[in-house]
Amino acid sequence: MESMKREKSNVKREASDVRQGFVEIFGEEPVAVVRAPGRVNLIGEHTDYNDGYVLPVAIDRNVWVAASPRWDRQVVIHALDFNESVIFSLDHIERDEARPWSNYQRGVAYFLEEQGFDLPGLNAVIAGDVPIGSGLSSSAAVEVSMAYAWQVLAGFELSRVDLALLCQRAENDFVGMKCGIMDQFVAALGRRGHALLIDCRSLEYQLIPLPAEAVIVVADTMKRRGLVDSEYNTRRRECEEGVRILQQYLPEVRALRDVSVNQFVEHEEKLRGKVRQRCRHVVYENERVLESVAALRAGNLAVFGRLMNESHISLREDYEVSCPELDIMVEAAWKVEGVYGSRMTGAGFGGCTVSLVAEEAIEDFGVKVAAAYQKATGIVPKIYVCRAEDGVSKLSGQLLAC
Ligand code: GLA
Repeated sequence: MESMKREKSNVKREASDVRQGFVEIFGEEPVAVVRAPGRVNLIGEHTDYNDGYVLPVAIDRNVWVAASPRWDRQVVIHALDFNESVIFSLDHIERDEARPWSNYQRGVAYFLEEQGFDLPGLNAVIAGDVPIGSGLSSSAAVEVSMAYAWQVLAGFELSRVDLALLCQRAENDFVGMKCGIMDQFVAALGRRGHALLIDCRSLEYQLIPLPAEAVIVVADTMKRRGLVDSEYNTRRRECEEGVRILQQYLPEVRALRDVSVNQFVEHEEKLRGKVRQRCRHVVYENERVLESVAALRAGNLAVFGRLMNESHISLREDYEVSCPELDIMVEAAWKVEGVYGSRMTGAGFGGCTVSLVAEEAIEDFGVKVAAAYQKATGIVPKIYVCRAEDGVSKLSGQLLAC
């Protein structure tokens, strides 16, 4: 537990970091400071781009942006975490292969402009404590914080849902990662103390209160996600192929979300090997999300945990997006008394696991899981106790002063 606390305080970023950085670089106070959180997905993996259900939580790790408008159309952004700056014009927004971190901000600016918002240029300092490349959606936090900073400075109307959609577009069509809507949505709409049940087709959502007696623990394998872009796109194609085949027998099916477990069982033989596996995961995972929400509402953490475990097995066996490090971490967690459930979280191929742990077992979890993981892999993991936090927000003067 001590090491968990230490780890967290070592890297924790605050509003004051970007504010101070801004003053040093631009010689004046920023007009606004905003933050957007990273996220951890409790259950519903690889369901969002199948029009299905997800249950993520916005976490108490953020990307912070301090910004002021400029009188011209130049955008100047300094990233404290990379100690690098970029300058570009809103009249000519292009990808930057030398500083790929800036493509998220460029993509957001590009699509805000494309939607007709009259953006001012801006000076900005950005920093974050969402670990990069670990499946906690630092990229969505960058996009959403940046879009919101522009919204605050320019004062235009954009709903939280539309903000999330715009940021997803920036990631899909500017950065080139064909992600679903989950990450940007929860970064924009998450709520303290709650998970967010999102219907990724209708974009309707419900806040689901989290039980006070259980804690969300994220364990970082420290294996940075490899392969993820190409494999992610392959999985998407396999799901689409499954839909095309199932449509011959179930013409009303538009996405895997429309296939019930019973229908899948009836027709699964029409699907070939990998496509059948991928579809099986998605169909059952959607079902698991709905069951897990019912379990949370009923206060039945044992059932919720069992569904998390089943999700992991399905991601490992059928969807094939786990990796040895994730499996080792999850299996170590399963052995600790007081752990309701544990699974990989996010796209997979490295990154983090998420576990739901009884409050009194957290200490044990930290010691035992870290030791087992290190023994098996030789890698020291990072373990974070996470709180469910609000989605994107602007900081008031008072908060900035502390
Ligand atoms: C990544 C994507 C999300 C989602 C998950 C898998 O995080 O950005 O849209 O598809 O993978 O559930």
